[in-house]
Amino acid sequence: MPESSESTDIAAGPGPGAETSAPALFTFPNRVLFGAGARRSLAAELARLGVARPLVVTDPGLVACGLAGRVADLLDSPQVFTDVQANPTEENVLRAVDRYREAGCDGLVGLGGGSAIDAAKAVRLLATHPGRLADYDLTAGGGDRITAEMPPMAAVPTTAGTGSEAGRGTLIQLPQTGRKTIALSIHLLPSVAICDPELTLGLTPELTAGTGMDALTHCVESYLSPTFHPICDGIAIEGLKSIFRGLEEAVRDGSRLEARSAMMMGALLGGISFHKGLGVVHSLSHALGGEGRVHHGTLNAILLPHALRFNREAAEPRIAELASRVGLGRGGDGAGHLVTLMQIVLARLPLPRRLSELESAGLDRGRIPHYARLAMLDHCHRTNPRACTQADMEDLLDRAW
Ligand SMILES: [Fe+2]
Repeated sequence: MPESSESTDIAAGPGPGAETSAPALFTFPNRVLFGAGARRSLAAELARLGVARPLVVTDPGLVACGLAGRVADLLDSPQVFTDVQANPTEENVLRAVDRYREAGCDGLVGLGGGSAIDAAKAVRLLATHPGRLADYDLTAGGGDRITAEMPPMAAVPTTAGTGSEAGRGTLIQLPQTGRKTIALSIHLLPSVAICDPELTLGLTPELTAGTGMDALTHCVESYLSPTFHPICDGIAIEGLKSIFRGLEEAVRDGSRLEARSAMMMGALLGGISFHKGLGVVHSLSHALGGEGRVHHGTLNAILLPHALRFNREAAEPRIAELASRVGLGRGGDGAGHLVTLMQIVLARLPLPRRLSELESAGLDRGRIPHYARLAMLDHCHRTNPRACTQADMEDLLDRAW
């Protein structure tokens, strides 16, 4: 199944040739500028889009390290909203919408990691659409209410992980649903993505590893999703190869532009590949991330090996195929090799390995049933290769604790 019936550009299996299936429809990606120094094209790209008064949406961390200023200085008198928090809330978005209207803005720049880019997408949506974000909840059929009538937006990622610069969704913690909730539409794709790996040179090893594991998980989960989308499958393979080339080196020596470029390309390809849907890792990660103050990619890194073992029962050949296509599995146990490789990669990264290490960030083992219920409400596991029950979710969390 595609991630939702509201998705407009995803075809469900069994694919072309089956008399009962609808024709496949592929409608991506967006315009992308990629390369060292690409940020210098931001003003020209906004002018091309007819944006004269952009609102730059970013977070306090980027202001503190000077990156927000470096990019904003490329524009003539931009408005800058700096209060997006990690795992952004609707309150963040509503305040940015007020600022957008008060300042008479006519376009958006999402500058930062996934939180800032997702918040900018949500501002873009509410700038022209009535009601609240909950009205556009994908899991409640809100996708059909999202129209093309919204201001242009440039996405400028400063991490290599989220892929939101090439994604159609915005994920915001909402009071009405009590969880991270996604609005998803092809119309939410940024008008242009400007991917400049120089903007990631100052990331710490921990953030490089955490965001990198988010990108890696996007490629793995989208490849294993049973949705029919061979274009995304090929992109996921190339993304995974690029991440394997860059991840450890970017963590070890963050000043290596080649490794940073490989990671930024891997993140971009991961963001395109998940147009076909993700899996159970992301449902669990969204549930935990909305409850604690925990980094999304770090959660994915902890959960991925457990999910791969869980999925082997239903997707052994597909996991083995993925292993072989990235150069593993010649010994006949490709799926096992991939699981082992993930453990080796994780062991070399400066990341926690168990959820118990994150209890100081607000996670509580006694609340596993609650987290599992939130994960069941999330859309991502609908495209997991093995169907998940509440008990499965609880068991996965328990194993990862
Ligand atoms: Fe993710």
